[in-house]
Amino acid sequence: MKILFVVVVLSVLSFGCKDKATKKLQDEKDKKEFVMVATSEMSNLMKEMYTFNESIKQQVIEGRLNLSYPEKFNTIHSATMTDPKDRDDTFETFSKLFIQHEKAIFKSSKEDLVLKYNNAINTCIACHLKKCSGPIPRIKKLLIK
Ligand code: HEC
Repeated sequence: MKILFVVVVLSVLSFGCKDKATKKLQDEKDKKEFVMVATSEMSNLMKEMYTFNESIKQQVIEGRLNLSYPEKFNTIHSATMTDPKDRDDTFETFSKLFIQHEKAIFKSSKEDLVLKYNNAINTCIACHLKKCSGPIPRIKKLLIK
């Protein structure tokens, strides 16, 4: 019982949209289902997108990007979400824009790298303003000042 409680608390802590997560916890009678829901494909993809952009930030600053666009990011169009209703027109519009801007980083000239990188991160933030505001302070740390 104690272990289940710890698992549930950890899931809530590591969860991006806290307001929603709390609501889910109340709604969901079955805690097991909640744990499954909390680690949606989309949530995992988002964490990868975060880590990846964090990992190229320094390369962008130094103008020596040596990685290529992760094709896996295209799964933003199909990954299952914690709340399937979140995949609405707004989400689709921003996800297309994001993919476009993230790809542009890898086609950019050395001079425009920082600009293109910040464009992509600002698209993360733009979608989050509409869909899931919890992680915004963290995402802002990715921006190059
Ligand atoms: C098209 C809209 C959209 C874009 C673009 C977007 N996000 Fe998200 N993000 C979401 C939604 C919706 C969720 C909640 C996913 C879920 O719960 O299934 C989320 C969740 C997250 C989370 C929380 C993951 C967790 O469960 O702990 C982080 C962190 C995150 N996004 C970072 C980013 C970063 C960094 C970028 C850009 C590189 C980005 N997002 C781009 C909509 C977006």
